[in-house]
Amino acid sequence: MTNNRNQGKVLTLVVLISGSGSNLQSIIDAIAAGTVNARIAAVISNRTDAYGLERAANAGIETIVEPHQQYSDRKQYDQVLARHVDSFSPELIILAGFMRILSPWFVTRYSGKILNIHPSLLPKYKGTNTHQRVIDAGETEHGASVHLVTEQLDGGPIVIQARVPVERDDDVESLRKKVLEQEHLIYPEAIKLFAQGRVRTE
Ligand code: GRF
Repeated sequence: MTNNRNQGKVLTLVVLISGSGSNLQSIIDAIAAGTVNARIAAVISNRTDAYGLERAANAGIETIVEPHQQYSDRKQYDQVLARHVDSFSPELIILAGFMRILSPWFVTRYSGKILNIHPSLLPKYKGTNTHQRVIDAGETEHGASVHLVTEQLDGGPIVIQARVPVERDDDVESLRKKVLEQEHLIYPEAIKLFAQGRVRTE
C-alpha cells in the first residue's frame, strides 16, 4: 500500500452530493488507504434522502443537508451553500453527483477550486442522458472526465479522463456501470494530482 500521508500538507475537501454517493465512497476509500493525501471536512447534500449521507456518516464525516426548494433564486441558495462551505475552509470543493447547476457567483468565488466528474468524454456530450446519447450516436467509445468547474456547463479545463469501449450489446445500464467503475478510479486520482500541486490553470 502506498502511503502519502507524510508527503506535504493534507488537502481539505468539502464534497457536495445529491444521490448515491458512490464517487464519494471511492474518495473516502482512497483517503483511508493512504493513496490520496486529503481529508473530507464535510459532505453537503441538497437532498435529505441522498444515500451518500449515510456513507459519510459511516465514515465519521460531518454532514449537512441544505434543501434547495425553499430558495426561489439560485444565487440565494448558493450564498447559503457558500456559508456552509466556508465554515470548513476547504482548499478544494468536490462535486460528486451534485445535481444542481451552480451560479456564476459561486463558481467565480471558488475559481480553480471546484472539481466535477461528468459521465462522458468531454467536450463531447455535455449535459444529461450521456449514455443514451452515446448509444444513439453509434459511438464506439465512451468514458468519464474530471474537470475544473467554470461558468460554462461541463466546459472547464479537463484534469483526467478514462475511456471505455462501447460494445454492440451495450445498453444504458451496462454503459452506466462501466463508466462508473472508471469514475471511481479517476476521481481519487484527480484529487491526488491536485493535492500534489500538479493541477494548474493558465
Ligand atoms: C455519476 O455518474 C457522475 O458522473 C455524475 O453523477 C453520478 C453520481 O453518482 N455527475 P454517485 O452519486 O457518485 O454514485
